[in-house]
Amino acid sequence: RRHLSQKTKPSELARDFAFAFDIDGVLIRGAKALEEGKEALKYLREHNIPWILLTNGGGKSETERVEGLSAQLGIDIHVDQFVQSHTPFKRLVHRYDKVLVVGGDRDKCRHVAQDYGFKDCVMPVDVLASNKSVWPFHRFAQDDFLLSRPLSSEKFDAVLVFNDPRDWGCDTQVIIDVLTSDNGYYGTKSSQLKQTVPIYFSNDDLLWANEYPHPRFGQGAFRRGIETVYKEYSGAELESTIIGKPFLFTYEYAHSVLNDWRRHAFGYTNDVHRVYMVGDNPASDIRGGNGYGWDTLLVKSGVYKDGDKLDSRSKPRAVVDNVLAAVKLAVELEI
Ligand code: G3P
Ligand code: MG
Repeated sequence: RRHLSQKTKPSELARDFAFAFDIDGVLIRGAKALEEGKEALKYLREHNIPWILLTNGGGKSETERVEGLSAQLGIDIHVDQFVQSHTPFKRLVHRYDKVLVVGGDRDKCRHVAQDYGFKDCVMPVDVLASNKSVWPFHRFAQDDFLLSRPLSSEKFDAVLVFNDPRDWGCDTQVIIDVLTSDNGYYGTKSSQLKQTVPIYFSNDDLLWANEYPHPRFGQGAFRRGIETVYKEYSGAELESTIIGKPFLFTYEYAHSVLNDWRRHAFGYTNDVHRVYMVGDNPASDIRGGNGYGWDTLLVKSGVYKDGDKLDSRSKPRAVVDNVLAAVKLAVELEI
């Protein structure tokens, strides 16, 4: 058995395994980086062990988020080792042209959607700018309307919820107007208010952890609201597609990102044999990692607290205090 203190040869230790880290509640809590997060990433750099970030967060470009995280965590993070909730929306670009983009600060997500390649990216502020009576209680200020764009007469092809909405009321009204429009034409109504446009949510987190001592409602809470209002309004169940952790679509995407990263940054030609998923949310990180066949390590520094119930699908390989303990345990298991 090699001692951890020795400089382990990367090819011996790290060719077969790697890490996928959740962010909120594992490496950071809101604006505050966790010391154990900084130490864990420094340790992995010293031992040449590959890792990626896999977050249900979002709302800005991958480049912008990675710059902020690098500064917060004191380590250079590359955009090729980063997967956020809406990154896999890139795979929908050839299917939809005109999309309603929802969530995030101001019109940041419009630019993210455009950079992904969507041709016509509309935000609720554009709809309100064209007719303020669409939602008379809107919270938009004049300088928000300066960012608005004129609406084309084209039909909407899809609704993409990129991040947590900042005005649930306004976004609920505009989203359901699009979903129940006659074949995607805003301002019309389909017969029996039937859903005519698909909707995608970028994650389903009912809860997530920031600096506040108790978990906060996430995009999953918003989705449940949309589905309840839609059901009351139309009498039908809403058909929605949800990506992000714990869903397969996102884990498959992340697994290929991890193997590409190992190849480009470490020169490994083999696919990774074992991935340790370190997360704070049993419902997303642990359930998703288990479902995809990764080894899961649950930390107590975020949503999960000692004594919380864990159903069979969300049981981790181990529960540890924090991400540094998770890394040390995984390396021990590999030695
Ligand atoms: O929106 C942030 C929240 O959904 C959780 O992010 O990093 O814990 O997956 P994360
Ligand atoms: Mg988290």
